[in-house]
Amino acid sequence: MWLISWLPGQNTGLHDHGEALGAFIVIEGTLSEATVQPASQVGGPVRTARRAFAAGSVRGFGYEHIHDVANLGTVPAISLHAYAPELTAMTQYVLEGQRLRVVSSDRAGVDW
Ligand SMILES: [Fe+2]
Repeated sequence: MWLISWLPGQNTGLHDHGEALGAFIVIEGTLSEATVQPASQVGGPVRTARRAFAAGSVRGFGYEHIHDVANLGTVPAISLHAYAPELTAMTQYVLEGQRLRVVSSDRAGVDW
């Protein structure tokens, strides 16, 4: 589990969660999540959507979920994230037009 504090303007960038699925709960403030669909369509065209999650909101996600979580507000936010199985890898992406491009592949114990 990860307890994360978010200053206004901080974000994760687009990433997946390797072989893990997960969920997060917003404890304080509001977080915004941008998602891409279909998530497995690296290199192909994707659609994007953004949703806001206020304090008390729970967001669950499955395998192949790619998102960018951000604090777009003006006050700090706090969230708690849980993964199963344990989070051991994440791939970072950028959107180029409507296509995902892999930026890096990060491993637990090596990159964080
Ligand atoms: Fe994430």
